Amino acid sequence: MQWNSLFSKIFGAFWLLISLLISALILLPNLDGRQLQAITSSDLEDLNKQTRYITKLIDKNPMLSSQSILRLISKDNSRQIYLTDLYGRLVNHRTPRKMRQFVLDSQSHENPLKKINTFKTYFGPALIQHDNQPLLIYVSIPNQKRTLELVEWLLDHPLLLLLTALIISMPICAFLAWHLTQPLRKLSDASIKVARGDLTTPFPEIKHSDEITRLARSMQLMVNSLKNMLNNQQRLLSDISHELRSPLTRLILALAITKKHTGETKELQRIELEAQRMEQMIAEMLNLSRIQLHQDKKENISANEFLEDLFLDAQFEANECGKSFHYPKLSEDIINIYPELAYRAIENIIRNAIKYAQQQISVTIEMKVDTITLTISNDGELIPESELSNIFRPFYRLNESRERETGGAGLGLSIAENAMLKHGGKIWADNLGNQVSMHLQFPRFN
Ligand SMILES: Nc1ncnc2c1ncn2[C@@H]1O[C@H](COP(=O)(O)OP(=O)(O)OP(=O)(O)O)[C@@H](O)[C@H]1O
Ligand SMILES: [Mg+2]
Repeated sequence: MQWNSLFSKIFGAFWLLISLLISALILLPNLDGRQLQAITSSDLEDLNKQTRYITKLIDKNPMLSSQSILRLISKDNSRQIYLTDLYGRLVNHRTPRKMRQFVLDSQSHENPLKKINTFKTYFGPALIQHDNQPLLIYVSIPNQKRTLELVEWLLDHPLLLLLTALIISMPICAFLAWHLTQPLRKLSDASIKVARGDLTTPFPEIKHSDEITRLARSMQLMVNSLKNMLNNQQRLLSDISHELRSPLTRLILALAITKKHTGETKELQRIELEAQRMEQMIAEMLNLSRIQLHQDKKENISANEFLEDLFLDAQFEANECGKSFHYPKLSEDIINIYPELAYRAIENIIRNAIKYAQQQISVTIEMKVDTITLTISNDGELIPESELSNIFRPFYRLNESRERETGGAGLGLSIAENAMLKHGGKIWADNLGNQVSMHLQFPRFN
C-alpha cells in the first residue's frame, strides 16, 4: 500500500481529524485558567505577607475581636481578607458565593490553593492564632484583566463552542473532499466527452492517487479498444457497401440489355425500381461510413456565408414542390464547424422537412454564448412521442407503407446524428403544436 493511494489518503484524513477532535475534547478543559490550582509562589508570598501583617496586628491589640480585626485590615488594604475557623465557618458577615465555594474547596493550610474567577482571584488558606483559637485566612484580589479569555468564554457557551468547531473544520473538510474528488471530476468530464461520441478525448494523466491513476489508464484502454472495434466495424460496413456496388452495376447493366431484347414488362420495371433503391441505399451507407471515419479539422466560418446558399437551394426545392420555406435574417457571427459534416446534417434535415411537410417549412436560429441551435419545423403528420428517439436509428422508418412512396433508405437522420456527434453537439426531435421540429445544436467553440 503506497502513501499516496486513495485508501491511505482517506484513512489518514479521517484518522487525523478524529484524533485531533478527541485531543481537543480532552485538552480544552485544561486550558481553562479558572480551575482550582496549586498556589503560585508570588501569591504564596502575598498570603504570607497578609498573615504576618494580621499576626502583628493581633499581637499589638490582643483584646480585639476577630470582627474588629477584619474591619481594621480592610481599611487600607486593596485585598479582601476572609477569616474562618478550622471547620470552614466564616467570620465575615457578608461573603460572596464564589468565595464560600472556594473556602469549601480549599481547607488545608498546608496545601493552599488558588482559583481565578471572572473578576477576582482567591487564594488561601494560611493559619494564624487569635485568642488561642486557630483561624484560617483567605485572600481575594481583583483581577488585572477584566475580560474573559476566549477559551474560557467558549467553555461557558457549549453551543458556540460547537459552532466554532464546525466553522473551523468546514474549510478543512471541504478542501479534503475537493482534493480527493478532483481527479474523479476530471475523469468524469473526459468520459462525458467520450459518451458524446468523441473517442479521441485523451484521459487526464492523474499523478496524485494510485487507484484513480489506474482507473484513468484502464478507461483509456477501454476507449482505445472501443475506438478500434468501432473503426473495424465502420470499415467493414464501408467495404461491404463498396463491394456491393460492382455486382449491382452489373445487374443494372444486364437489366438494360434484357429490356432491349424482350421489351418493357411489369416485372422488369419492378426489378429496376428495387435495384435503384438498393443503389441509393448503398450510396447513403457509404455516406454514413464516410462521416463516421471523418478526420478533417474544424473551420471558422461566418454563419451567413455557410447557411445562405443552403437555405436558398432549400427554398427553391420547396417552391418546386408547391411548399413554402422561411428562414430568418442571417448574422455574420463566426461558427466553428466541420463544413462538410454540418452541411450534410442540415441538408438531410431540410430534405426531410420538405419531403414530409404539407405546406410550409420554417427555420429559426438561436445564438447563445456557447451554442447555436438551428430548429427546422414543418407542418404535416406528427411523429408519435414514443418514436421521437427511434427515428435516429439507421434504417428506421416510421410507416413503411407511407414511406415506400416517399422513397429513401431511412439513413438520413442517422447521418445527421453522426455528423452532430462528431461536432460534440446534439440533435433531437419534438412535436411543437401542429409542427414537427428538429433541433440541431452545435457547440460554438471547441
Ligand atoms: N420532418 C419530419 N416530419 C415527419 N416525419 C419525419 C420527419 N423527419 C423524419 N421523419 C420520420 O423519420 C424517419 C426517418 O428519417 P430518415 O431521414 O432517417 O429516413 P428517410 O427520410 O425515410 O430516408 P432517407 O433520409 O435515408 O432518404 C422517416 O422515415 C420519417 O418517418
Ligand atoms: Mg431523410
